[in-house]
Amino acid sequence: MKINIINGPNLNLLGKREPEIYGSETFVSFFERLSKLYPQLDLNYFQSNSEGAIIDKLHDIGFSSDGIILNAGAYSHTSLAIADAIKAIPSPVVEVHISNVFARESYRHHSWLSANCAGVIVGCGMEGYQLAIEFFRMRDQQG
Ligand code: DQA
Repeated sequence: MKINIINGPNLNLLGKREPEIYGSETFVSFFERLSKLYPQLDLNYFQSNSEGAIIDKLHDIGFSSDGIILNAGAYSHTSLAIADAIKAIPSPVVEVHISNVFARESYRHHSWLSANCAGVIVGCGMEGYQLAIEFFRMRDQQG
């Protein structure tokens, strides 16, 4: 199974950025742990601070990936273009937010992406990415 994780703006700073909200582990270290947990998966990771690069990546992998895990950061709350890209591709996308956006500022409560995603995982910390992997594996096993 080919699974792709895409992280959006400012998520390259995980580990340093507001650790009281996002924790103290870097994504690179988390991704290493995740890859060891799932040696049987073709697990890939991409991060960009640029909206266009995220859209290009969705176009690139969205016809071959078995599951895309997308944390588009603040673009979730602003980007119709990323929402359209998700709708344009056949690969299922799960939207992940590390923090509980509903317990934060009201401008974080709405995501343009959610309606076009297979599911949404919010507020489960970094484990949210693993939960999304488990979701794709279960779907795969069910056929
Ligand atoms: C985030 C939540 C967004 O509101 C914020 O802009 C982020 C991270 C999260 O993972 O909790 O950059 O997507």
